[in-house]
Amino acid sequence: CVADLAELVASHIVDVPDFPKPGILFKDLTPLFADGPVFREVIDGIVAYHGAGSFDVVAGIEARGFVLAAAIAYATGLGVVPVRKAGKLPRETHRASYELEYGEAALEVHTDAFKPGERVLVVDDVLATGGTAATTLDLVERAGGTVAGFTVLLELSFLPGRDRLAPREVHALLTV
Ligand code: PRP
Repeated sequence: CVADLAELVASHIVDVPDFPKPGILFKDLTPLFADGPVFREVIDGIVAYHGAGSFDVVAGIEARGFVLAAAIAYATGLGVVPVRKAGKLPRETHRASYELEYGEAALEVHTDAFKPGERVLVVDDVLATGGTAATTLDLVERAGGTVAGFTVLLELSFLPGRDRLAPREVHALLTV
């Protein structure tokens, strides 16, 4: 059930103080990825929430979103599309920039990544400020996809990620 999944995620996160910079409390989800039965339960929980059949392809956001997207795609027999940091994809891309605390970052997706109207489930590990997610959902639509859902394992509710994505819905296994 939903409470069990939230508890499972909570108990497999390790808080790392002052990473990658002083003052940041990093939420490390690698222990969850490393535990086979837990990882499977989390993936199955995401698929069950959205419903196999409600999406045609899975998009993962670099880098930890790749781990989740590949597993969801395999579990549902679908393909996986990488949304990458700028400069990593080899062919023609759509690119979108977003503000960071200091400076700017950009994400890219191949222009032919989706068939027109294809329903895309977008996944990442963490929703924080929402900059990465908002930019990705924008890119998916520019590339011709339809966002069927957006799921993260962990949502940090003291940051405005969810508001920033509204009216699009966010599904988070755990919100802290
Ligand atoms: C982290 C996380 C999300 C993003 C969330 O990725 O995996 O993708 O930040 O932050 P936001 O909601 O404030 O945009 P990171 O930038 O650390 O990249 P990485 O996964 O490649 O290390």
